[in-house]
Amino acid sequence: MKKIQLSQTGVEVSCLSLGTLRFGTRNTYEESAQLIDMYIEAGGRFIDTANSYDRWCDEGKGGESEVTIGRWLRERGLRDRLFIATKVGFGYQDVPDGLAASTIISECEHSLRKLGTDRIDLFYAHKDDNNTPLEETLSAFNKLVTDGKIRFFGASNYLAWRLADADAIAAKNGWASFTCVEQRCTYLRPNPGADFSPQQIVERNLTSYCDARGKTILPYTPLLRGAYVRSDRPIPSPYRGPDTDARISVLHEVARELGATANQVVLAWMMHRQPPLLPVFSARNPEQMKENLGALDIVLSAEQMERLDRAGSCLNDEPV
Ligand SMILES: NC(=O)c1ccc[n+]([C@@H]2O[C@H](COP(=O)([O-])OP(=O)(O)OC[C@H]3O[C@@H](n4cnc5c(N)ncnc54)[C@H](OP(=O)(O)O)[C@@H]3O)[C@@H](O)[C@H]2O)c1
Repeated sequence: MKKIQLSQTGVEVSCLSLGTLRFGTRNTYEESAQLIDMYIEAGGRFIDTANSYDRWCDEGKGGESEVTIGRWLRERGLRDRLFIATKVGFGYQDVPDGLAASTIISECEHSLRKLGTDRIDLFYAHKDDNNTPLEETLSAFNKLVTDGKIRFFGASNYLAWRLADADAIAAKNGWASFTCVEQRCTYLRPNPGADFSPQQIVERNLTSYCDARGKTILPYTPLLRGAYVRSDRPIPSPYRGPDTDARISVLHEVARELGATANQVVLAWMMHRQPPLLPVFSARNPEQMKENLGALDIVLSAEQMERLDRAGSCLNDEPV
């Protein structure tokens, strides 16, 4: 699998990251291990999890995904060849609400223990917290870097101006700042004003800020959970706008030209952008995994990229 530089870190990571939200809850350990093995077999080395996965699932309390990855790492012995991202989510179970320094430090320890590792490669704030001063949050993340517990930290679900504030505070104090940003993004553009909170989307302010500062953007839910290809999963209403039909039509047109699937074209479109987006995708079973990994073989021409980018643009001028 191709590698790309993560932001301006000098560190190369896989161009496609494996999301593990449901691993250890909806997917058993054995099913999850098989899916991770397939991703590794394709050359993937970048795994995405969170302390809270999967508290949203009926069977989940949070922590199951990290525990699953920890067990898999122990069994396969591949820790040093992988880049592991996890997140500090908060305000669930006994994790206090907010990004206080004490929560960041203690949740990092819990994640290290569950993952069975002595270092997290990338530790995200899972969402923003307007009630804790950014200084406190950043100083805690920075301390984890200087203590060698994490290599980098990232922001997930942040607005562009908050990233700019964070960067200014970090620069003033000589601290590291948010290296990269994991945010909701797919090929279809949400309607203006669509509210996914606490999730935040990739929009023009964010792309222009991150591109200018050399921060990699990692889109999550890139496949809209299968909605591009499945009759049992309609396109969610915030994505049904004046440009939807035009974009879906071009997506399928390009997929037909390449003998590919719409899912593969969505992932390839992100990876072909300049600078590239780094999708965090998932799959429930080996068939889905095989299809999604097939995106790595797709070569989009400049003309196809242009057609995909421009589809529906006169109707909803909000390019990614
Ligand atoms: N930072 C954040 O706030 C945040 C939020 C959400 C997710 N994430 C991360 O991003 C990762 C990916 O998110 P996601 O699971 O929402 O994204 P996704 O890749 O858009 O959706 C994955 C789901 O789509 C369906 N699917 C995948 N491939 C398919 C295929 N080839 N054909 C048909 N259906 C297919 C499956 O649904 P079924 O299981 O129903 O079959 C699968 O579980 C997560 O695992 C997590 O690591 C981060």
